[in-house]
Amino acid sequence: MAPTDNQNPTARGQAGHPRNPDWWRQAAVYQIYPRSFADGDGDGIGDFKGVLTKIDYLAALGVDAVWFSPFYPSALVDGGYDVDDYRDIDPLIGTLEEFDQIISQLHSHGIKVIIDIVANHSSDRHRWFHDALAAGAGSAERARYLFRDGLGQDGEEPPNDWQSLFGGPAWTRVTEPDGTPGQWYLHLFTTQQPDWNWANPEVRQDFLTTLRFWGDRGVDGFRVDVAMCLAKDLSEPYPTWADLASGMALVGAGTSPYADGQHPLFDRDELSEIYAQWRDVFDAYSPPLFAVAEAWVAPHRRARYASPKSLGQAFNFDLLTAPWDAAAFREIIGANVDLATQAGSTSTWVLSNHDVVRHASRYAQSGTTGLNYGAGAAPLSVDATARDRGLARAQAATALMLALPGSSYIYQGEELGLPEVSGILADQAQDPWARIENGVEVAGRDGCRVPLPWTQTGPYFGFSANASWLPQPDWFGAYSAAVESADASSTLSFYRAALALRREFQTDEQIEWLELGPEAVAFRRRNGWTCVTNFGTEPLALPAGRIVLRTDGAADRPTIPAATTAWIVP
Ligand code: NOJ
Repeated sequence: MAPTDNQNPTARGQAGHPRNPDWWRQAAVYQIYPRSFADGDGDGIGDFKGVLTKIDYLAALGVDAVWFSPFYPSALVDGGYDVDDYRDIDPLIGTLEEFDQIISQLHSHGIKVIIDIVANHSSDRHRWFHDALAAGAGSAERARYLFRDGLGQDGEEPPNDWQSLFGGPAWTRVTEPDGTPGQWYLHLFTTQQPDWNWANPEVRQDFLTTLRFWGDRGVDGFRVDVAMCLAKDLSEPYPTWADLASGMALVGAGTSPYADGQHPLFDRDELSEIYAQWRDVFDAYSPPLFAVAEAWVAPHRRARYASPKSLGQAFNFDLLTAPWDAAAFREIIGANVDLATQAGSTSTWVLSNHDVVRHASRYAQSGTTGLNYGAGAAPLSVDATARDRGLARAQAATALMLALPGSSYIYQGEELGLPEVSGILADQAQDPWARIENGVEVAGRDGCRVPLPWTQTGPYFGFSANASWLPQPDWFGAYSAAVESADASSTLSFYRAALALRREFQTDEQIEWLELGPEAVAFRRRNGWTCVTNFGTEPLALPAGRIVLRTDGAADRPTIPAATTAWIVP
């Protein structure tokens, strides 16, 4: 099979071509969580020096782009999603000059660079938030954020009963410059993450400056954090939190008392204006800058973020929430390919990221394998049966994902088959979601953020010479890149082989379903590339053709066992 250039937009010559405007449409994107990737200076926190030592690893993996989670100066209250300065680098992570080197080295391998933009909120250490506190009520400085007077005789009650998405009140009271207790500001996340006022043109302009700052440095695109949150309607009378939450656009669930686009906090129609302004900035570059929205919205609203006039692409997290079930996968795939096509975009697929339990552990559970956002994982390292089940399903799901049209987003460490790290003690936890709830310890998201193992033995499994900001478990070395690179049957070898084949075969958005029974998910791409996954317990017969990949690593047999994916070409 020899795909034409036209059918094969991710082939090296094209994705790597600096002028190809469509490089993102069928890209395999690797997410780096910088503080946990590689530590070059030995302080226990991953950094750019560390990334620079791993450029060859990324190139050998065969990804088309790297997305960097936030590296901005930050107090790390929310893992870097609390940004002090949008146009600088945290000194613990590196310097702008080092980032320039990363861009140029990745580009020299034909790998694009995507960075996180956190536009709903800043940190409370941002200069404009300090200015707002100093300037006092009614000032232009306060109007950049969402300050309101409190209720009660002395304003001692918050303006309303809204809750933060991380728990606790969504309002925090400030101390005025004269030392008296004063106004309250809104924060959908932690107290230290005040929400911007996106109705304020100054805020809008400043973000356009930020986009240009990074575009001018050579960045190829942006991942837009909680893209559905920026616009808000804070007019009174305020609805109650119960009303708001019942109409939560966040996961597209619930029966809403609000019309589409009218929820006071999420997925408001006027976001289109904001992203149209961003689009003008993107289109001033050649090729245009890329953006993907993290938009937890109902599927029929996703096009508002994914359209070419808006951000251009939007995450679909449906596979994160899906059980290990053929019918669920078929439905999600069919619906999302159609939605993306209707939006003029391409589909997106995510099995793991820095917010959820790693999929090798989700699939290890015998029951539901869904989202577990911030819920932590059971201690899997001791249960070999569960661990093996999880890994087999994870590899099968990954191979299925990589055979789909659109962009696949791969989270660092999943290429090693890393399970979630469980049992991080309360006094070691870093995530604001780690908490005790009704006497039960909720692990939060630290378990998928533990620094990567690069070597089987040695200090911190090769992550750092001296320390690790989250504890690594004893069993980590077996999953190290060094061990897996040397093993042709490892998860890493599977990812490398699959990504190389994907580059050869990836084609446009169409899929044709094959009927291989209720426990199979099977489809063919326009060029004949066929993917079959067995979700059942009995062996599944494969269609005719040349098998180029099997996740069970078995020799060329006419059937695949449970929890296995095969790729076949004519
Ligand atoms: C989504 C990010 O993925 C998550 O890590 C963060 O906590 C929230 N947005 C708030 O920025």
